[in-house]
Amino acid sequence: MKRIVVLVSGRGSNMQAIVQRCADDGWPAAVVAVLANRPDAQGLEFARQRGIATAVVDHKLFAAREEFDAALARAIDGFSPDLVVLAGFMRILGAAFVRHYEGRLLNIHPSLLPAFAGLHTHRRALAAGCKAVGASVHFVTPELDHGPIVIQSVVPVRPGDDEERLAARVLATEHIIYPLAVRWFVEDKLELAGDLVRQRDGASQVLM
Ligand code: GAR
Repeated sequence: MKRIVVLVSGRGSNMQAIVQRCADDGWPAAVVAVLANRPDAQGLEFARQRGIATAVVDHKLFAAREEFDAALARAIDGFSPDLVVLAGFMRILGAAFVRHYEGRLLNIHPSLLPAFAGLHTHRRALAAGCKAVGASVHFVTPELDHGPIVIQSVVPVRPGDDEERLAARVLATEHIIYPLAVRWFVEDKLELAGDLVRQRDGASQVLM
């Protein structure tokens, strides 16, 4: 049974999708804790209602990023995770933290990486005239929103789309691809070779 720790900063809809699929589909895994860097993160309430352990490591209480990272890692490691899942976790994590979880730290980003790392992805994609956007699940490396890509979703941009509509359409696909990527991880279906990730069964790593 693999132990999953999920980190959120806000709403936590991706975390909820993962918790739900894990329970409904009987993964050989359990979400053992949900951690947040904000005491008011809405996702915490969902976890509490589900009887999942929660903890807050409030970044505002730390003077330096390294101190926050170290406290966060201590809190995470208290749950002995096999996998750490960043699900809308909006703090940049330092290289030492990332290295500590190398090969067992996943993130989702609402763009077709390597395009549009960072914030305001949908706004920037619309301004660039992109005809397709999407989301990417990737292993985390020290470079922001960068690292071996596990799966991507591709979503068409429609006439009249604004940032909000596009974000909602992409988010619906995030709720499919993130649980799938986590499932592959806990079922040992992912093979990591340098910058590339292969799904051992040859399952499609793109949702269109
Ligand atoms: C999601 O769209 C996720 O891709 C994005 O934040 C949102 C969190 O929603 N993550 C990032 O931008 C990370 N760089 P959620 O809290 O409802 O899962």
